[in-house]
Amino acid sequence: MPLKNFSFRNIASETFNQATESIMLTWKEISSLFGLRHDFYKNPLHKPLPRPVTAILIGAGNRGNIYADYALIHPDELDIVGVSDQDAVRNGRFVRKHNISAANRFYEWENVFKREKFADAVIIATPDQLHAPVCLQALEAGYDVLLEKPIGITEEECRSILEKARTTGRIVGVCHVLRYSPYFRQLKEIINAKAIGDIVSVQHMEPIEYSHMCHSYVRGNWHNSKKSAPIILAKSCHDTDILRWLINEPIEDIQCFGNLKLFTRENAPAGSTPRCTDGCAVESTCPFSALQIYYRDRKRLYVFDLPQQRHKWDYFILKKLKTTDYGRCVFDMDNDQPDHLTLNMRFGNNITAVFSMEGLTSYEGRCTRIMGTKGDIVGDMETYTITDFRTGRQTSWSLKTDFHGGGDHRLVQDWVQAVGHHEPAILSSTIDVSVVSHLMAFAAEKSRLNHTIETVTLNQ
Ligand SMILES: NC(=O)c1ccc[n+]([C@@H]2O[C@H](COP(=O)([O-])OP(=O)(O)OC[C@H]3O[C@@H](n4cnc5c(N)ncnc54)[C@H](O)[C@@H]3O)[C@@H](O)[C@H]2O)c1
Repeated sequence: MPLKNFSFRNIASETFNQATESIMLTWKEISSLFGLRHDFYKNPLHKPLPRPVTAILIGAGNRGNIYADYALIHPDELDIVGVSDQDAVRNGRFVRKHNISAANRFYEWENVFKREKFADAVIIATPDQLHAPVCLQALEAGYDVLLEKPIGITEEECRSILEKARTTGRIVGVCHVLRYSPYFRQLKEIINAKAIGDIVSVQHMEPIEYSHMCHSYVRGNWHNSKKSAPIILAKSCHDTDILRWLINEPIEDIQCFGNLKLFTRENAPAGSTPRCTDGCAVESTCPFSALQIYYRDRKRLYVFDLPQQRHKWDYFILKKLKTTDYGRCVFDMDNDQPDHLTLNMRFGNNITAVFSMEGLTSYEGRCTRIMGTKGDIVGDMETYTITDFRTGRQTSWSLKTDFHGGGDHRLVQDWVQAVGHHEPAILSSTIDVSVVSHLMAFAAEKSRLNHTIETVTLNQ
C-alpha cells in the first residue's frame, strides 16, 4: 500500500480482516488500536520551569557532551555553568562550547567540591570507577545528580549511593537511556495495556558487534573487569534494567554462564605482533585489525580527540595506534571480559527470562521476544510485531515510519523537570529502581564465576 494514500481506518480494518498480513503502522495508529495514549512523550507531570536548572558537568567526554548539548538546544531549561575534566583538550573545547567562566573551570573533579555549592546539580559522566566517589561528594555537598551508568562498580558502592540519596533527600537520575527510547517505551505501554495478556516469558539478546566488542571490551576502557567493571554490569545493566522494567515483577533467581573464548593469547595467530602497526604477518587478513577498524574504515574515532583539520587525521590515527591500547593486538591484551554470556532469570509470578550478550556478531541493536498468554511480540529495536493468538492479527511498527530515538535527551528533559520542581516521580530511572538492575548484574557475575544460582534479595 503506498504510504501517500495511507488511511488509518482502511489499514485498521484490513489488519482485522487479513489475519496473516502484517502492515507497518505508526505509533498513533497502534495506540488507537489498543486504546493507549497517542503521545506518551508528553509527560503529564511536566510544568513550566521558573528558570533554567543550572548544572556542572564532571567528565566532558563522549557521554557528558551528549547530555550537556541539551542545554544548547533548550537554554531556557538547562544551563551548564561549570565543568571538570582532567583532559586539557576536552576541557578547553567544552568551556568554549558552553561559555563557562574561568572560575568555574576545573581539571580534577575534587576541586569542584572545594567551592561553595554554585549550581543546582551535577552531571557525572566520568569513567566507571569515578562514579560513586564523585556522586557521594556531590550528594554530600547538596547537589542533585544525573549519574551515568553504572551507578558504582561494586554492590557496596551502589548501596551507599542509594542510602546517601535517601538521607540527603537529593535526586539521583541514572542514565538508563533505553527506557526513554521509542521502541522500549512503546513495548512498555503495550504490555501494560495487556495487549498480549500476561507475560509468561521473555527472550532478549544484545548483539555487541565484533568491532565494538574489540574497541570497548578487548582493547578499550572496559577490557579488564578488575580495572573497570564486569561486562554484565558495564554493558548489560541496561538490559537487566529493561527486562525488570518490562516484566514489572521482582527478580528472584539468576544464573549465568559465559566465558572468554576468542580473544586470548592462546589464539594469537602465528606471525602476529604486539601491535597491528608492528609489521604483523596476518594484519591484512585479520578481521580485528586496528589498522582496518580505525585507519582504513575510520570507525570509532571519537576516542582520539582528532584535530578539526581532516588532512592531519592519517598522522594522528597512526600515532594513537602506536601509543595507546587501541593499536594493540586483540590476542595480546590483559583482557578478561567474556565475549559471550547467557543469563537465566526467574521473576515474580513465575515469569522466566533469558538474556544473551554476544560479542561476536556482525550487527548491533537489541532483539526481544515477549511471550504472553494472549499473544506475543517480536522486536529488534527498529521494528516490532504484535500477534494476537485468537484473531491472528499482526500489528507492526517500524522506526522508519516514526521519528528517531532521542532517548538521551528525553532522559535529560525528565531529569531537568525533576530537579527544577524537586519532584523525583517525574523520572523513570531514579536510583531506587535503577539499583535493582545493578544487583542483578552483580548476582549474575557471582553465578558465572561460582557456578551457582543466585537469589537477588533487596528492596525493589
Ligand atoms: N548510558 C549509556 O548508554 C552509556 C553509553 C556509553 C558509556 N556510558 C558510560 O558513560 C561514562 C563515560 O563514558 P564516555 O564514553 O563518555 O567516556 P570518555 O572517556 O569519553 O569520558 C570520560 C571523561 O572523564 C574525564 N575524567 C577522567 N578522570 C577524571 C578526573 N579525575 N576528573 C575529571 N575528569 C576526569 C576524562 O578525561 C574523559 O574526558 C562511562 O562510565 C560509561 O560506562 C554510558
